[in-house]
Amino acid sequence: MTQRDAKSADTAVRVRGLVKRYGETKALDGVDLDVRQGTVLGVLGPNGAGKTTLVRILSTLIRPDAGTATVAGYDVLTQPRQLRRVIGLTGQYASVDESLSGRENLYMIGRLLDLSRRDARGRADELLERFSLTDAARKPAKEYSGGMRRRLDLAASMIGRPAVLYLDEPTTGLDPRTRNEVWEEVRNMVADGSTVLLTTQYMEEAEKLAHELTVIDRGRVIAGGRVEELKAKVGGRTLQVRPVDPGVLDAMAAALGRGAQAVADHAGGVLNVPILSDEQLTEVVAALGAQGFAIAGIDTHLPSLDEVFLAVTRGSGTQEREELAA
Ligand SMILES: Nc1ncnc2c1ncn2[C@@H]1O[C@H](COP(=O)(O)OP(=O)(O)OP(=O)(O)O)[C@@H](O)[C@H]1O
Ligand SMILES: [Mg+2]
Repeated sequence: MTQRDAKSADTAVRVRGLVKRYGETKALDGVDLDVRQGTVLGVLGPNGAGKTTLVRILSTLIRPDAGTATVAGYDVLTQPRQLRRVIGLTGQYASVDESLSGRENLYMIGRLLDLSRRDARGRADELLERFSLTDAARKPAKEYSGGMRRRLDLAASMIGRPAVLYLDEPTTGLDPRTRNEVWEEVRNMVADGSTVLLTTQYMEEAEKLAHELTVIDRGRVIAGGRVEELKAKVGGRTLQVRPVDPGVLDAMAAALGRGAQAVADHAGGVLNVPILSDEQLTEVVAALGAQGFAIAGIDTHLPSLDEVFLAVTRGSGTQEREELAA
């Protein structure tokens, strides 16, 4: 990920060697990452990985113990005021005022950001509309559902039209429909030119929204790259063959021989065959055809991000044990 150093012009967020300690805990232990302008970087990691710590440093809410970070060219340590003007933050812990209505919350933030009364009102109404909160605009936020509150929080982070948005687990605890709405809004923001740093524990979310991924665990980057690259790293594809007659699954597996490592999925009515090359793919399909099996469909898929995540975090654990043993 560091090869892009030379092209810093199109890098919206640039982090090098970031360290943050809390007593004995190294919340961040030398993190490097880049977010390209106009893209979404997904930062994936389990509980306690350091995601929120990273977002807090990049928002100038806390100071790192070592390392550097710039956002839109502004340094987190030396230019915090300029930096705050170009970012938006949706926290893991929503920051709306309970007693105020949705509209009042947005208006207040607009005023805090130096918008005129008129502009603050206009922007609040525009965002309420966009996040489907117009009907609830005059209700106090404490009467909002979790999903409405999250949408209000997202709207609040966008009032100042930030160039760079941090979304810290924006859909944790939301139902699937609300989660989809939030995803749609994030896509809209990116289409409007925002750069997004998204932390998440959901592989599906990262897969849906992120152009690139950084996987962190215990304060360290353990893997990174484009979604497809990460998947490819973990292993080959799986070929799924669906015979017209599900009764022949075992016969198909037998016909390919044990070396093919084919596994019959009787519930799904498919035969799963691990594939490492295009040649092998062609061979397997040809072999089944030659044996006279009637095939209703074939499909190939890369490993899921869950599998990628398990594989890379397992790897980092091993490395750590080796370091301890050394
Ligand atoms: N203010 C603090 N004081 C002490 N320790 C902290 C503090 N903030 C974070 N930590 C510790 O730093 C580590 C990283 O925490 P962080 O909140 O960044 O993780 P996270 O990836 O956001 O986790 P989650 O998915 O649970 O939100 C954890 O071990 C956490 O206990
Ligand atoms: Mg967190």
